[in-house]
Amino acid sequence: MSDNLPTARQVAELRACIADWRAAGLSVGLVPTMGALHEGHFSLVRRCIESMDRTCVTLFVNPKQFGAGEDLDAYPRGEDADAVALAGLGAHLMFAPGTSEMYPPGSVTQVSVPGLGDWLEGEFRPGFFTGVATVVTKLLLQALPDAAFFGEKDYQQLCVVRRLAADLDIPVEIVGCPVIREADGLALSSRNAYLNADERASAPALHRALTDTAKAVRGGNHIAAATEAAHGTLVKAGFTKVDYIAVRDADSLAPVERYEGNARVLGAAWLGTTRLIDNLAV
Ligand code: PAJ
Repeated sequence: MSDNLPTARQVAELRACIADWRAAGLSVGLVPTMGALHEGHFSLVRRCIESMDRTCVTLFVNPKQFGAGEDLDAYPRGEDADAVALAGLGAHLMFAPGTSEMYPPGSVTQVSVPGLGDWLEGEFRPGFFTGVATVVTKLLLQALPDAAFFGEKDYQQLCVVRRLAADLDIPVEIVGCPVIREADGLALSSRNAYLNADERASAPALHRALTDTAKAVRGGNHIAAATEAAHGTLVKAGFTKVDYIAVRDADSLAPVERYEGNARVLGAAWLGTTRLIDNLAV
């Protein structure tokens, strides 16, 4: 282990490094991130290191997935600390391109995933999944890894990525990894840093509300009644706005009328100016 992590800034450097690994017969894993790394990200990196010969972590705050009025400028950044942490974990390469490397002047092509990308998060953040799908497609094609690792924390994103990889015949295994949480249930997120002390105290109610919803639905309660109760829990706990609490098919994310197994409960809600998302298996 070294505290010196090789860093590629250009796609050509990334490709050259990966070509050397390939020539040596090594398997390659990719972990896409927007940096400001925490234990949630590290769990993906560890999983990648365990299962692949070489691990490349990408750091790129992708402007195309931030809407007008969202937190692009304020999004936490800490590349030096990220590099030290990744070297300590045993990652082999960091790919941290600038915006003009990722989107050179004149670049216009987008990848969109209709349906799956329009529901839930897509409804409240129009264009978000086109931004995500475009950058993830580019990263997968730039690196051409054997496997790429994504967190179930962003469950809809994981579904969108699986869909685009299948639809575009990208020869990569998409590996989903479990949500890493604080002891009180709050899912780790770079955006948790925005919460003040009161909001931080309220935040675990989102996980609680989703857990209660899953339990109620599993127990045969009506889905609408269960999600309505979850809304109530969140408002009582101090959440200022609930975007959605929804029970969906775990693969297609299509609405489910009655629970018949293979469902996921997903939620998004606001504490002041901070929007939290979470989900779990029913
Ligand atoms: P980012 O929010 O940095 O997350 C990078 C990866 O870490 C995603 O796959 C996300 O699901 C995972 N992750 C974040 N918090 C987690 C937690 N608490 N437990 C488990 N996994 C967690 O998601 C993105 O970046 C971007 O949209 C990206 C895919 C990089 C495209 O720009």
